[in-house]
Amino acid sequence: MNTSLHLNSRNIISVIDDRLYSSFIEHMGRAVYTGIYEPDHPTADADGFRCDVAEHVRALRLSHIRYPGGNFLSGYRWEDGVGDRSSRPVRRDLAWFALEPNWVGINEFIAYCRGNGIEPMIGVNLGTRAAQDAVNLLEYCNVEKGTYYSDLRRSHGYEEAHRIGLWCLGNEMDGPWQIGAKTAEEYGRIACETAKMMKWMDPSIELVVCGSSFRDMPTFGAWERTVLAHCWDYVDYLSLHQYYQNNDGDVPSFLARSVEMDAFIKEVASICAEEKTRRGSDHDVRLSFDEWNVWYHFRKAGRYPEKWIFPRPIEEETYDFADALLVGSMLTTLLNNADTVKIACLAQLVNVIAPIMTESGGQCWLQTIYYPFLYTSLHGRGIALRPEVECPVYQCALGEGVPTVDCAAVLSSDKKELTVFLVNKDLKNPSACRMTLEGLKPAKAGDHLALSASLDSVNTADASPVLPRKVSDTKSINNGITFTLEAASWNMIRLPLI
Ligand code: AHR
Repeated sequence: MNTSLHLNSRNIISVIDDRLYSSFIEHMGRAVYTGIYEPDHPTADADGFRCDVAEHVRALRLSHIRYPGGNFLSGYRWEDGVGDRSSRPVRRDLAWFALEPNWVGINEFIAYCRGNGIEPMIGVNLGTRAAQDAVNLLEYCNVEKGTYYSDLRRSHGYEEAHRIGLWCLGNEMDGPWQIGAKTAEEYGRIACETAKMMKWMDPSIELVVCGSSFRDMPTFGAWERTVLAHCWDYVDYLSLHQYYQNNDGDVPSFLARSVEMDAFIKEVASICAEEKTRRGSDHDVRLSFDEWNVWYHFRKAGRYPEKWIFPRPIEEETYDFADALLVGSMLTTLLNNADTVKIACLAQLVNVIAPIMTESGGQCWLQTIYYPFLYTSLHGRGIALRPEVECPVYQCALGEGVPTVDCAAVLSSDKKELTVFLVNKDLKNPSACRMTLEGLKPAKAGDHLALSASLDSVNTADASPVLPRKVSDTKSINNGITFTLEAASWNMIRLPLI
C-alpha cells in the first residue's frame, strides 16, 4: 500500500489566486443573526458582531465573503437593509420561509468584512428585480459622492465609497426552487444588460455570471453555453456550485466525489474555452466555484422548524470526520485546477452548513471541516505544482480506478517552502509515502500535521475529538523525504527549501 509522489519545480499548474480561500454568508438560518451578529452576546462589539466568532473567521485568512445569498438574494431588496435601523421593514423571506428583520444590511456587512481584513463579494438580485436596481446598488456602494445613491450612502453615515470589486449577477437562476427562476435565454438577456450597465457605472468591477446550480441539473452544459453566448464580453467569471452527500453511508463512494468535482471543473472550463474560440475573443472567462461543501445531515434528519420565525434555525450540519476528509480532497481538487478556478467559496461560514458553530448567548466551536480548510488556506498559497502520484486505486459505486490518495502541492511565492496536502481515502490501510523532488532542495525532512479519527467522530460544543496533531515521521532520503499516511487521514507536509 505504498504511494510515490514526484514533484518537479517546472511542472507548474498556475499561480494560486488568493480568492480560492473565500467563504459565504447568507441571510439564512442562524448564519447572520446569532451567528456573526448578536448584539446581546457577552462578546459583542459596539456594532453587535460577536468577537468570539470573528476571531475564528479571521484565523481562516479568507480573501472574500460572498453575501447576502444564495437563494435569499433572489427576493432581496437591498434598500430594506440601509439607513436608520428602527425604520427598516420586517419581510417574509420566501427562500427560507423565515422572517427577515433587516438589522444587518450591506453597510454593516461590508464594515464587518473590512474590520476582519476580508473583502465582500456582493450579489445583485436578478430574481425579482431589474438591472436598474442592481446599478443603483452599485452607485450606492462605489460612487464617491454627488449622485443620488452615493449621497444617500453618505447620509447613512458612510462617507467613503465602499469600492466593492467583485459582484455576482444573481444566484442559481436555473433552479426551479429559485425566486424568479429563469430559462437560460431569459437569464442570459437580463444578466447581459445588467452586466453592461454595471460596467458602464464602474468599469473597474469584475462580474460573476451564474452557471448551473449543480452538475446534475438537466440543463447543465446547455445553460452555460447559452448564458455565455449572451454575456461573454461583459463578464469575468462563470459560477459553479456543488454540495456532496453521504446519505447511504457508502464512505468510499462519498470520498470519490473529488474525482467528479475535478471532471465538473474541467467540463465548465472547456465550455469557456470553446466559447472563446468560437468568438476568436481575447477576453477570458474564468471559474468561480462560489458554493462548495458537504451538505446532507440536516436534510436527512428532516426536522424543520415552523415557518415565519426569526431566526429560523435550519441546515445546521454536524460534520463528521468523513466529511472533513472529503472537504480536504475538494481543496486539493481546487488547487489542482488553479489555472481555471480563480474564486472558490466554502459554503457557508457560520451555523448554516458551516465550519464554525455558535450557541445563541453561549459559546462557539469548530467543526471537523474547519481544519482542512484552515491549514490549506494558511499554507496553500503561492504556486500550484502538478504532483505525479502513483498509488493504489479502488472501485466504488462511482466507478473504477479511484485513487486512494488525493494530493496537491504548493510552492510558496518566495520559493522557500513546499507544502503538500494529502488525503488517504483508504479506510483500512496506511500508506508509506515516498516523495521525490526535482528542482527543489529540502533544507530538512519537514513537518507533518495530520487529522485522523473514526469516521463518525464529530466536534460539538462539549468536546472536540477531531483536532490536528503533529506526527514525527518525516525522514530525508537522497532527493526527497518519506512519511506515512494513516488509513483515512488528512495530512499536510511542510518542507523548508534551500
Ligand atoms: O448555501 C445554501 C444554498 O444552497 C444557497 O442559498 C443556494 O445558492 C444553494 O442552493
